[in-house]
Amino acid sequence: MSDTLASETVTPVLEGKPSPFAVPTGCYPLTVSEVQHYTDRLFRFRVTRPREFRFRSGEFVMIGLPNSEKPVFRAYSIASPSWDEELEFFSIKVPDGPLTEHLQKIREGDTVLMRKKATGTLVNDALEPGKRLWMFSTGTGIAPFASLIRDPETYDKFDTLILTHGCRLVDELKYGQDLVAALREDPLIGELVEGRLIHYPTVTREPFERQGRITDLITSGKLFEDLGLPRMGPEDDRGMICGSMAMLKDTKELCISHGLEEGANNKPAQFVVERAFVD
Ligand code: A2P
Repeated sequence: MSDTLASETVTPVLEGKPSPFAVPTGCYPLTVSEVQHYTDRLFRFRVTRPREFRFRSGEFVMIGLPNSEKPVFRAYSIASPSWDEELEFFSIKVPDGPLTEHLQKIREGDTVLMRKKATGTLVNDALEPGKRLWMFSTGTGIAPFASLIRDPETYDKFDTLILTHGCRLVDELKYGQDLVAALREDPLIGELVEGRLIHYPTVTREPFERQGRITDLITSGKLFEDLGLPRMGPEDDRGMICGSMAMLKDTKELCISHGLEEGANNKPAQFVVERAFVD
């Protein structure tokens, strides 16, 4: 039986019960295999991956729930790498958010809907080769980078990967901290990552070993001093940016002021900005 046929005959499950709504055409019904809550604002979940579904690490898909005739869909970066047998997502919980107020209640065995096409700008193909890849993220904007730092292709293309993650609170860093720790221990990719992946978490609203917005740390030069690296430049450095609208705009301006040019899938250059979160 093909995946397409299976998706049309499956009965979706929500909060442990069969849903009266059919799976819309053009969607995969995916089964939740794991849910982890970090704070009252953040959680992660993993779902089954249809065998035919292909994507490039760093891309996003549209996610919904089988809770209506016309489900609400939102863009979610896939946080797992393209070789993984499951798909992982890292989500915010928005109070009264049309999707996330329901999505945050999912449990193992429930059904999540996913439209069949993945797309996005935060992919290795959209950048020219370089020495260092700077991944600038805030909040759930770390998700596409969670995919890219687990993909050997990223290490083929760049000598050093720097994952910056800015959050309001220390507890919000945990997803990234657990991810990087697990990666260093990973029997397959651990060796590749050794000495080449730098994690730079920072917090803005309570005390932590590193504090301040990533944009301020770039402007002041503290980011580069802390890491013992030169300021970014078009020769050796490449950038990827994912976060809130304001963060995308401010970080993009900083990349430009450091001489980097914006690229796209059909025109690789020196930095790229996530388009999924643009509202
Ligand atoms: P701040 O606490 O100063 O607002 P959010 O959860 O609102 O998306 O914020 C996540 C992190 O991004 C916070 O540390 C926040 O800092 C920071 N942030 C918000 N706006 C910007 C911006 N324009 N540039 C860089 N960082 C930002």
